Amino acid sequence: MRRIALLTSGGDCPGLNACIRAVVRTAKFYGIEVFGFRRGFKGLIENDYILLDYKTVAGLLQRGGTFLLTAREDRFKDRIFRELAYNNLKALSVDALIVIGGNGSFQGANLLQKEFDLNMVGIPKTIDNDIYGTEYAIGFDTAVNNAMDAIDKIKDTTLSHERVFIVEVMGRDSGFIALEVGIATGAELTLIPEYPSPLHVIEETLINSKKIGKNFAIIVVAEGVASGKDLANLLRERLKDKGIEEIRYTVLGYIQRGGSPTAYDRVMASKFGYFAVKKLVEGERNFMVSFENGRIGIKPLEVSFGRVRVPDLEEYQLNNILSM
Ligand code: F6P
Repeated sequence: MRRIALLTSGGDCPGLNACIRAVVRTAKFYGIEVFGFRRGFKGLIENDYILLDYKTVAGLLQRGGTFLLTAREDRFKDRIFRELAYNNLKALSVDALIVIGGNGSFQGANLLQKEFDLNMVGIPKTIDNDIYGTEYAIGFDTAVNNAMDAIDKIKDTTLSHERVFIVEVMGRDSGFIALEVGIATGAELTLIPEYPSPLHVIEETLINSKKIGKNFAIIVVAEGVASGKDLANLLRERLKDKGIEEIRYTVLGYIQRGGSPTAYDRVMASKFGYFAVKKLVEGERNFMVSFENGRIGIKPLEVSFGRVRVPDLEEYQLNNILSM
């Protein structure tokens, strides 16, 4: 193993820079050169890269986003562009490509591996934390903490004005962020796509809550369930005769995905990056780094394909019990 290429692909998240730094420093430790491709697979196609050394990754650990830049690149679905990418890597005599990305990026990487027999490594990252085959993906903890901080602030108004606040959080089709944030903020209701709550249950919860003298509520809704705005409009309309009119909504949006990574994300990103290079040095091929039962390991890249991780039913039930 003499040379590796590295890229970040898909949506940015906190911890990517920490992971890049860990990959580069571990590689340097083993005497390996690292080429960082900019804007993910786009950079691979366009041969846009920089040589990464100790100095280029200094001062990065605590910064959000990705200094290598990232993009979603549709051209990679086309074999002609994958061949272009492979030729660029071959010209640099690269022995392996490390992709810090999500499920879609791993599948793109896997095609490259199958067609051109390139050694591919996936390091999981997504604030949604729904990559199958790993219990943790870089960025999740920071996103949850960002959302929790925001909801704690919203709660001041919720309590002071005795209102219902609907807070829409990210997650695409997954409810991990909503569920974790719901528990962490004591939300009265948490709505996630994996375990749908009928509308009448949502209404009854708010009505019963008012009956026992609780004149406020926070509803955390995952974006995969409904938009905060639509849900607020619907509930306002349906509950106006029940004396529940003060319903507001907030969309947390991209503040969840930005900012300095938490200690947990810095540490996990560093470990994932270190582990990926170490396993390559040990001769492993075509794997993704995974975290399971408190341990970091590796799995075949294909494990994550066509499936997503879903939250534990008991955790969802626990949240419902605690929120009453
Ligand atoms: O997958 C991460 C994520 O932030 C999702 O939670 C969200 O739905 C999506 O990316 C937004 O993607 P984009 O910034 O490309 O619109």
